[in-house]
Amino acid sequence: MADPKKLFIKTYGCQMNVYDSERMAEAMGTDGYVTTDTAEDADMVLLNTCHIREKAGQKLYSDLGRLRALKDAKPGMKIGVAGCVAQAEGAEITRRMPIVDLVVGPQSYHRLPEMARAGGQQVNTEFPAEDKFDLLPERKATRGPAAFLTVQEGCDKFCAFCVVPYTRGAEVSRPAQRILTEARGLVEKGVRDITLLGQNVNAYHGGGGGEGGGGDWTLSRLIRELARIDGLQRIRYTTSHPNDMDDDLIAAHGDEPKLMPYLHLPVQSGSDRILKAMNRKHTAEAYLRLIERIRAARPDILLSSDFIVGFPGETDRDFEDTLDLIRAVGYGAAYSFKYSARPGTPAAEKPEIDSHVADARLQTLQALITEQQRAVQAAMVGREVGVLYEKPGRNAGQMIGKSDHLHAVHVDDATGTVGELVRVRISASSSNSLAGERIS
Ligand code: SAH
Ligand code: SF4
Ligand code: F3S
Repeated sequence: MADPKKLFIKTYGCQMNVYDSERMAEAMGTDGYVTTDTAEDADMVLLNTCHIREKAGQKLYSDLGRLRALKDAKPGMKIGVAGCVAQAEGAEITRRMPIVDLVVGPQSYHRLPEMARAGGQQVNTEFPAEDKFDLLPERKATRGPAAFLTVQEGCDKFCAFCVVPYTRGAEVSRPAQRILTEARGLVEKGVRDITLLGQNVNAYHGGGGGEGGGGDWTLSRLIRELARIDGLQRIRYTTSHPNDMDDDLIAAHGDEPKLMPYLHLPVQSGSDRILKAMNRKHTAEAYLRLIERIRAARPDILLSSDFIVGFPGETDRDFEDTLDLIRAVGYGAAYSFKYSARPGTPAAEKPEIDSHVADARLQTLQALITEQQRAVQAAMVGREVGVLYEKPGRNAGQMIGKSDHLHAVHVDDATGTVGELVRVRISASSSNSLAGERIS
């Protein structure tokens, strides 16, 4: 038998791209490809791209520049561009970079094997009528005991700064039964922790059977049904919009033990003026009231958010409002970004604020978040949490896993095995992780 062909995938952007990369690897597996960790020995290089900020898009072109020499030395090598830049720029990529053989969007990557087989330059950025998930091969469980599972794609919210509704298209929910089948398959392969993914995951409205979206399944109903799968021990979901946190989803945080006490609920800004200009359709006060209700259901929940600083028109006062909101919530984690004008979005029409001012605000905000993150971590010391072992640590006899609250935890446990969920008492907190002792 001939040596298998090797596929190297580089993934940029969000978890949905991580999920898509796994599924593209599985799809190419049916054509005899195995994955490799370096571009140098690959027969095919796939860049799964992100379009969210200008820098993310630029990375694609600098990586392609570097791949040119590699392809010159190995003319049979195929280069593919997938993901959100592929969707946004399409054939423009092959025009600008003739070394690119394949351009495939997030909704059409089930066609990747046939595109690769066809030879020559192939571009497919359609939103096809068929559901790619029905045509992809069965999942492998390649990331150990924790797995992602996409349940919803696209976004109808049209925040004024964001490209996602254009690159990923309208909201579509997968049928509940297909998701449950995929989850059961993952659990049979050893998965214990599933994170449900969607660009707007809590807007999930799937049909029950074979039919697609618009059904009467909500995210909370899906979570409650998943929780009945024996062997599945933890459920998380991301990313959520504040306006889609319904009563039953909040209740599930209190009464569904498998739903983990971690919630990423992006607010973007604490200024009502800016929230309005961003088209977020809620106020800072409404967000704070929502947080109160979630904490009433699950008092120890760890909260996380995304923030954009330097949105067009943001004043010092607006920025102070954002800092006030952060102080009022007390986050365990957060991602913050300097506003980046994206072509085709409404906010890109507006004059930008001084770049240095935005840089300074980002630093101030990040310092506050770091302070809060450390305080939340330090408060874990002495507490007992669940830890799911994901891999051996650097030191002999050590295991590393994620806590219920998604903290990385190091545990000295010579007999521990990957995939085990153990009780741990947290004994110390360092800048990016916790240490603890196994108590069961
Ligand atoms: N669907 C998710 C987020 C998707 S993008 C949500 O609604 O929360 C992830 C994050 O990138 C966003 O939450 C936002 O903080 C940031 N982001 C999106 N567009 C951006 C832009 N043009 N400039 C800077 N940050 C941006
Ligand atoms: Fe983008 Fe807003 Fe949709 Fe999130 S909710 S993906 S930020 S448009
Ligand atoms: Fe980026 Fe697309 Fe995700 S733009 S953040 S990869 S949905």
